[in-house]
Amino acid sequence: MKTISTMLALTGLTLALTMTACGGGGGDAEEAGGDHASSGGEVPAEYQGAITGTDVAAGAEIYDQMCASCHPGGGPDLEGLGWTAAATRQQIREGEDSMPANGPDRISDEELENILAHMQTIGAVTE
Ligand code: HEC
Repeated sequence: MKTISTMLALTGLTLALTMTACGGGGGDAEEAGGDHASSGGEVPAEYQGAITGTDVAAGAEIYDQMCASCHPGGGPDLEGLGWTAAATRQQIREGEDSMPANGPDRISDEELENILAHMQTIGAVTE
């Protein structure tokens, strides 16, 4: 009997260690998020610069297709969010948690800039 309870205790310990390891993984993800604009980190230079998109209607159309299913819904309402263009570019390109990353294969640079132009009209992006 003593052997069985020892084994049970070991099993419990293994489970506890496994769960701790998972928690550690989550910590890494949060650390990576520390570089993220929304967490107050610096936005990489590649995302900096003024919005070059001028076709607000085209941007609105892509936004409706690619973003409006979650914003608002699965993600926050972006109206009046007031983010910089740089932080928004990074968010769109890299994604975050359940928000998918959108590389140039999904959204071209031109489309991205038009999305930003549209987002300016709803106060989601301020500059
Ligand atoms: C599948 C759902 C989904 C889609 C599609 C999506 N997002 Fe998101 N988005 C999210 C979620 C969820 C968050 C919150 C992420 C977090 O903070 O952990 C988010 C966050 C954001 C934020 C930051 C808001 C904040 O307050 O933190 C911006 C800006 C944003 N999304 C823009 C966009 C744009 C632009 C598109 C379209 C190109 C888009 N998203 C498509 C789910 C989505």
